[in-house]
This record gives sequence, C-alpha cells and structure tokens, in this order.
Amino acid sequence: MWTKAAKAADIEEGKAVVVSLGGKDIAIFKAQGNFYALDSVCPHRGGPLGEGYLDGLELTCPWHAWTFDLKTGNCSTAADVRQKTFPVKLERDEVWVDT
Ligand code: FES
Repeated sequence: MWTKAAKAADIEEGKAVVVSLGGKDIAIFKAQGNFYALDSVCPHRGGPLGEGYLDGLELTCPWHAWTFDLKTGNCSTAADVRQKTFPVKLERDEVWVDT
C-alpha cells in the first residue's frame, strides 16, 4: 500500500527521516539524489538504522557497525541477513513508500 511518508525537502542528502507506517519504523534516506526506504530496526540488536552513517549507498549501523546496501538491504557483515527494503516514489515533492 502506497503511503505519503515525508516531504522530500525535509530529508537532507546523506541523512534519513524515520516514519512510523503500519506499525513499523521505516527510515527514508536520501543518497546520491535518490530516496530509499528500509526497516529502521537493525536486525543485529535493534539499533536505529535511521541514525546510521552513509558512504555512498552503504549504510553503517551506529551501534555495532554492521553495513547494509540501501538498495537491496543486503548485509555485508552477515551474508545471510537481508534487511527489508520498501519501494519509494516521488510525487510533487512528497516521498511515498509502498509498505
Ligand atoms: S544493532 Fe546494528 S550492528 Fe548491532
């Protein structure tokens, strides 16, 4: 279900806003001019991925530095882990997320 989640102007390049959609905390990042959404709760020990650090499209959890690909959710620290990602679209300066 597509939901209007944030104003594009409120998300700085390289940063995220965290929104609650359908009972889930979802981090919406702006990286390299595009928007990406993923589950904000780190699968390791529940750290806040929305407060993580970006290097290109690689997101590092602020708690124990597991790293994730923003596009795919693939974790490069634990190869069997894939964080849930969500489709994103931009309409008239509003960011929509499909949960
Ligand atoms: S909680 Fe994210 S790496 Fe540990």
